[in-house]
Amino acid sequence: MKIKEVKDNKKQYLSLLLLADEQEDMIDRYIDRGVMYILEDAGIKGECIVTDEGNGILEIKNIAVGPAYQGKGYGKALIDFIAMRYRGRYSVLQVGTGDSPLTIPFYEKCGFTRSHSIKNFFTENYDHPIYECGVQLIDMVYLQRNLV
Ligand SMILES: CC(C)(COP(=O)(O)OP(=O)(O)OC[C@H]1O[C@@H](n2cnc3c(N)ncnc32)[C@H](O)[C@@H]1OP(=O)(O)O)[C@@H](O)C(=O)NCCC(=O)NCCS
Repeated sequence: MKIKEVKDNKKQYLSLLLLADEQEDMIDRYIDRGVMYILEDAGIKGECIVTDEGNGILEIKNIAVGPAYQGKGYGKALIDFIAMRYRGRYSVLQVGTGDSPLTIPFYEKCGFTRSHSIKNFFTENYDHPIYECGVQLIDMVYLQRNLV
């Protein structure tokens, strides 16, 4: 397994990016300023994008593993890679997600705990309602993990 940075043509991985963030113009808000990594293991299996949010906070803006390869440890491998790579340079790794049983337990397994939320983020920023497991996503829930 190999994880490497992608500097050019990040949109070539759009199908993976859209798994985590289904509206392309929302991805456009962070793709250029973000640092992107892809995970290769006999082909591309996943990606993630992190951004510098200031005050020692590094944020995971997008993380996705191809549907056929989920549940095999690739997502956790990406998180562990980011935590190792940025340890000492940032104090907190954070991620924002919908209040969904598809994502929150994954982050909790990866050592994150809930910190705060932004009310109505999904209803105010996306042009259509977003559903996961039949439940509409409304607020953005932030989870954090120490990097020091
Ligand atoms: C969320 C995602 C990145 C997780 O990656 P993954 O490779 O499937 O997850 P892993 O196999 O590394 O799982 C790590 C741990 O989390 C657990 N986990 C993952 N998803 C879970 C879920 N929905 N419920 C409970 N536990 C879960 C795994 O069981 C595993 O636990 P273990 O270490 O005890 O075995 C992946 O499922 C995905 O791409 N989903 C679609 C895109 C998306 O929603 N991205 C996040 C946007 S906020």
